[in-house]
Amino acid sequence: MHEMQVKVPGDAPREYTITIGADLLSSLWPRIKASFGTHRAFVITDEHVAAAGHLETLLGGRNIPSFVIRPAGEVSKNINTTVAIIEAMEKAYLGRDTVVVALGGGTVGDMAGFAAAIFKRGVPVVQIPTTTLAQADSAVGGKTGVDSSVSKNAFGAFWHPAAVYIDVSTLQTLDERQYRAGLVEAIKHGLIADAEYFELIESQLDAILTREPDILQTMAQHNCRIKGDVVEADPREQNQRRMLNYGHTIGHAVESASDYEMLHGEAIAVGIVAAGLIEAEMGLSEPGRLDRIRGILEKLGVPVNVPDQMDENKLIDILKHDKKAVDSWPKFVLIDQLGRIHQQDGRYAVDVDRKIVEKVLKQLR
Ligand code: GLY
Repeated sequence: MHEMQVKVPGDAPREYTITIGADLLSSLWPRIKASFGTHRAFVITDEHVAAAGHLETLLGGRNIPSFVIRPAGEVSKNINTTVAIIEAMEKAYLGRDTVVVALGGGTVGDMAGFAAAIFKRGVPVVQIPTTTLAQADSAVGGKTGVDSSVSKNAFGAFWHPAAVYIDVSTLQTLDERQYRAGLVEAIKHGLIADAEYFELIESQLDAILTREPDILQTMAQHNCRIKGDVVEADPREQNQRRMLNYGHTIGHAVESASDYEMLHGEAIAVGIVAAGLIEAEMGLSEPGRLDRIRGILEKLGVPVNVPDQMDENKLIDILKHDKKAVDSWPKFVLIDQLGRIHQQDGRYAVDVDRKIVEKVLKQLR
């Protein structure tokens, strides 16, 4: 078992522990009770996680009020579900002494974190991520929220977890497509911050794909260290935290244009290749780098091109609506070396000419 701290600066600085291990879930409840002894727990999970047996393993027969999100996934990530969760907490006579326990993937963590942020003006949330995506990315860093009918995460708050427990054994029951797609965020971490970590993933991909617990724990440590460092430096995404959006500008556009048929990590894989092609156009590439990135993504079996039927003009239009666009054109996160972000005047998200993006979108066919 491994522990690390994340120190979040700001007006109300806070610090939380990330615990990483295998087969943690069945012995976790006494630890949570010991840390939040005076709090009453409320568990939020979804039907897939419950069906996989993880809720039962966590609670071990204890009678703890819980909310199971049905159906699982982005379709439920909205304000109606949030209202249902909050009302379930009220009906269980819970108050400001509540600790919310989020057991599940990215959508569960986002929804539970948001409910915790607004229930009685804010109660602590413990994140127990059970997917490759949530363990690599979303459980750490405090981004919480739900979608409106117009856009993703339209309602949201920065609400940092009080603790994070990563049990890599929960990944054993994850379906293959979700498992592989979530690994793209780990590859992203290597690309933006740690060439040796990228090389570790590249050399250990077979063990990663067979879900060997030791390599999964090693990866979780790298992911949490990289993400934790960035969040400590820039918790509210003023500048440096934008580096975590590598591959996400075009990736989000592809995800949205697919009407969310593509999984987040699958769309980000296309976005990472797009970033590599933009880097080549801007003289930021290194010999062989993009081929290695493509190779690892192809071995994962995630897409590396824009789907044939996807309209390029639609993608451009979505890019113009990017929430961080300036003058209707987004900024891009790029690397100039494996493990190093390309900065312009200290900025982590930089200008890229629209013609370059149009050319790259054509190359991605
Ligand atoms: N997923 C990117 C971030 O947390 O900033």
